Amino acid sequence: MEIKKVVIIGSGTMGSGIAAHLCNANIPVTLLDLKTEISQNARERIHKSRPPLLIDKNKIDNIKVGNIEDDFDVVKDADWVVEAVVERIDIKHNIYDKIFKFRKSGAIVSSNTSSIPIKILSEKLTNEQKKDFCITHFFNPVRYMGLLEIVKNENNDLDKINSLKKFCEKELGKGAIVCNDTPGFLGNRVGVFAMQVAMTEAFKMKLSIEEADAVFGRPMGIPKTGVFGLYDLIGIDLMSDVLKSFIKELSKNDPFQAVAKEIPLITKLIQTGYTGRKGKGGFYRMNKKNNQKILEAINLETGEYSPTTKIDLGIETVNLHLLINRKDKYGEYAWSVISKIIKYASSLVPGITNQFNDIDEAMRLGFNWAMGPFEMLKAIGVGNFFKRIDNFENNQFLEKLSKTKDENFYGERQKYTDIETLGKIKPKAIKIDKNKSADIYRFKDFNIVEFTTKACALDYDSMDALKNATDKPLIIINESMQFSAGVNLTYTMNFADKGDFKSIEKFIKYFQETCKHLKYSKHPVISAPSGLVLGGGEEVAIQSNFVVSHTNIVMGLVETGVGLVPAGGGCKEVLWRWFQTPEAKKDPDYAPLKVFNIIGYATTATSTVEAEPLKFLRPEDKKVMNRNSLFEFSKKIIEENRDFTPPKECKFNLSGKVLKEKMIKILEKLYNEKIILDHGMEVGKELANVLSGGDTTLDKTLSEDDLYKLELESFMRLIQTKKTQERIKHTLSTGKILIN
Ligand code: NAI
Repeated sequence: MEIKKVVIIGSGTMGSGIAAHLCNANIPVTLLDLKTEISQNARERIHKSRPPLLIDKNKIDNIKVGNIEDDFDVVKDADWVVEAVVERIDIKHNIYDKIFKFRKSGAIVSSNTSSIPIKILSEKLTNEQKKDFCITHFFNPVRYMGLLEIVKNENNDLDKINSLKKFCEKELGKGAIVCNDTPGFLGNRVGVFAMQVAMTEAFKMKLSIEEADAVFGRPMGIPKTGVFGLYDLIGIDLMSDVLKSFIKELSKNDPFQAVAKEIPLITKLIQTGYTGRKGKGGFYRMNKKNNQKILEAINLETGEYSPTTKIDLGIETVNLHLLINRKDKYGEYAWSVISKIIKYASSLVPGITNQFNDIDEAMRLGFNWAMGPFEMLKAIGVGNFFKRIDNFENNQFLEKLSKTKDENFYGERQKYTDIETLGKIKPKAIKIDKNKSADIYRFKDFNIVEFTTKACALDYDSMDALKNATDKPLIIINESMQFSAGVNLTYTMNFADKGDFKSIEKFIKYFQETCKHLKYSKHPVISAPSGLVLGGGEEVAIQSNFVVSHTNIVMGLVETGVGLVPAGGGCKEVLWRWFQTPEAKKDPDYAPLKVFNIIGYATTATSTVEAEPLKFLRPEDKKVMNRNSLFEFSKKIIEENRDFTPPKECKFNLSGKVLKEKMIKILEKLYNEKIILDHGMEVGKELANVLSGGDTTLDKTLSEDDLYKLELESFMRLIQTKKTQERIKHTLSTGKILIN
């Protein structure tokens, strides 16, 4: 079965998201709704979406639109018809009736329902029709969420389901997990239960919402929105509907019932329009006082808002064992929540799936958890868990495990896919070294470095790990969301606050030395980025010999935003790439001026398609839809490059002062137009100094080391200024850029 054309019916949040993502995979798609106007609006929404649903905005016209009265004929040509209309069974049944009258023989028909069982969806279909009918449950936003749950019925043609799964894995890049027909399938059943437990326990233990989110967040390997922040993001009203559906679908004695009960505060929030970020606010709200925006949090007991309090648990890395053993209310809350999640998730095996690790992977892919409930159990330790847990009757999984107490119960990961993923390889590889910022693995005859800090921010130890790992071919890759958000600014500011600029200089020099080493070491170095690839992260990637990039990346040299210039070879490397263009061969100032613009504006690309014209990526760099495949492609590059020879060193001829003056003219214009302020001017001048080659003339040849030196000097001058330090502090505390 080949899928070459797709029709989607229903162009709301999900229909438009799925259409955009099919477009990302270059599959022609038609979006039908009640009226063409509705699907046209959906197309406009896709075009304007942020973060963008399209990898390449120019492809928007590949999404055709129409309505279900005049344009239904398109269904005749489709290999796959996706129904994504409102969650109403009568409407869905009518649509299926029509689809099956029009569809070509053998075409797949699927529903994106999040809560209607397949036996009810398909109750009016003939056995022949049921063969080709299934649920394909995508998550929102479709481009970015890894999970796709496929639910089959007992009549399905299994080969067809399998090829649909393969298509969704390979072409759409999804982690496609086939699961049973049970309410909420895997992800939502466990994920929403976890949210409800985190919420009800916070009420019970009288924790503030900031406290609950500080625990049920990064310390547990869960996104920092925690539970209350996530509620606001999803929509408090939508969550209430989801819960109602669970209450209706699940048996009366399911433990979910106890945590799904309506909470008076939530009813009041919905009634007063506090439905979350899309409404007037939710558990958190932005309030304006004296022209200043203040983030406020609700008091769970009184319902009153007050400015948020920052909760610092002093935790840098995820360590569940330490977390649940803390002798404070946070430790108690963590244990209470985690143990209930583990108990519930394990009680669902084998009912919702035979493979318990599918639940973990669904939580990783659908909720961005760093580990699922069973991995949490493994991390806590089976023995430790049973010492503390009270009862677990009727829980087959725990009853069995309590007898064996097998600490190695977990076995293989990611059984849902045939792809050789990093997650599968890590347990088989030998961890040859680790420090506080990175792990080094040896697998077969090559090394793997995985950064382990928050957002994979880079420091001296990250560089040390990279440098030490170049004794073999090297793949730099990680399972966590980001490749690297850049140099660890807190680490840098700690030195700056003490006036210890020598240590900063030492670090930057080591950063440069390491990146140069990556580029010229005798074994190939492959970076396999996904997520954020910013600043120092981008410098590591572009100075690797090969890049295998996930199509979902945010890539750029954003240092100017914090009042710095890229100093790990970023200016140099992008400049070199621009020098290879035909225009640069004719005009020596063409490349530096281009790069001046790109870095000066801290330009970022939100996909591989956007990264290439900026030359952050090269045409020969591999672009991959499925994040799971990054490792496999990287490994293949190692196999294909047994006779690797490192590249030749680059040389630069730059115009020096004359070029710098041209750049300063650009800055003056921006300054006069108030686009940049005083410090923006200073930062721009330093960038101009680097990119013009400093004190040079066109006839002099500069080496890479000369450019590294210029980068370092500018960086060091800037980091010592008060205004750069103010920018850094502002970004660290707000996540935003300060214009000063
Ligand atoms: P939505 O309300 O945003 O969009 C539904 C669309 O269906 C609207 O554009 C509406 O005009 C159209 N529609 C209604 N009746 C129609 C008909 N007879 N023919 C053609 N179009 C019709 O809904 P949303 O959120 O996109 O949900 C769609 C499906 O996806 C539902 O089954 C929902 O349960 C499921 N889902 C929703 C998720 C979410 O986060 N919103 C996540 C996963 C699944």
